[in-house]
Amino acid sequence: MTNANIVWQETIITQGDRAAQKTQSPCVVWFTGLSGAGKSTLANALEAALFERGKHSYLLDGDNLRHGLNQDLGFSEADRTENIRRVGEVAKLFVDAGLIVLAAFISPFQTDRASIKDLIGEYKMVEVYLDTPLSVCESRDTKGLYRKARAGELKGFTGIDSPYEAPESADIVINTGAVSVVDSVAIILAYLDRHSFT
Ligand code: ADX
Repeated sequence: MTNANIVWQETIITQGDRAAQKTQSPCVVWFTGLSGAGKSTLANALEAALFERGKHSYLLDGDNLRHGLNQDLGFSEADRTENIRRVGEVAKLFVDAGLIVLAAFISPFQTDRASIKDLIGEYKMVEVYLDTPLSVCESRDTKGLYRKARAGELKGFTGIDSPYEAPESADIVINTGAVSVVDSVAIILAYLDRHSFT
């Protein structure tokens, strides 16, 4: 909902100025995939590699944002949609600030991910789909949540009794069950280099 009584305030310093000062092309690298697919791990490793190159970045992580900005949200379809909507708005602000944003969210719904792409601008969102089989994610079970979901102690868990809509045209697809963290980061960095984001 927009308010007709609120006008947009232009800023003197623009996104282009902020990006140029940092000598980088801001973008959002959006990781989507099941819990345990390795989104946070890869986003962290990628951020470390970018930092090493002197790039300015910020990592938005689903678990962390749910401790603060999104602590009022649960895991119903509507709450997940609102979660992703807010994250998209935050990512947009950080891109405007001239940063390379890394976002690690299950983001299970196609329409929500498409909305982020529209919001950010088609050429600035790189969608990385971690196409790691459920069996692999479940065998990792680093947080013990799959065990709880299978035991019926946790309802509506993605991949068990809540859907995950796989992207059909992600920019990068990686099965972390078969590709190491180092190689995965190299794949993403090569993509960013090719598209002049780094
Ligand atoms: S999303 O679906 O709204 O995109 P988000 O990425 O923010 O999810 O949070 C996912 C994390 O919340 C998981 O990694 C897991 O640790 C935790 N979690 C707790 N309950 C659930 C659930 N029902 N489904 C999925 N993840 C859950």
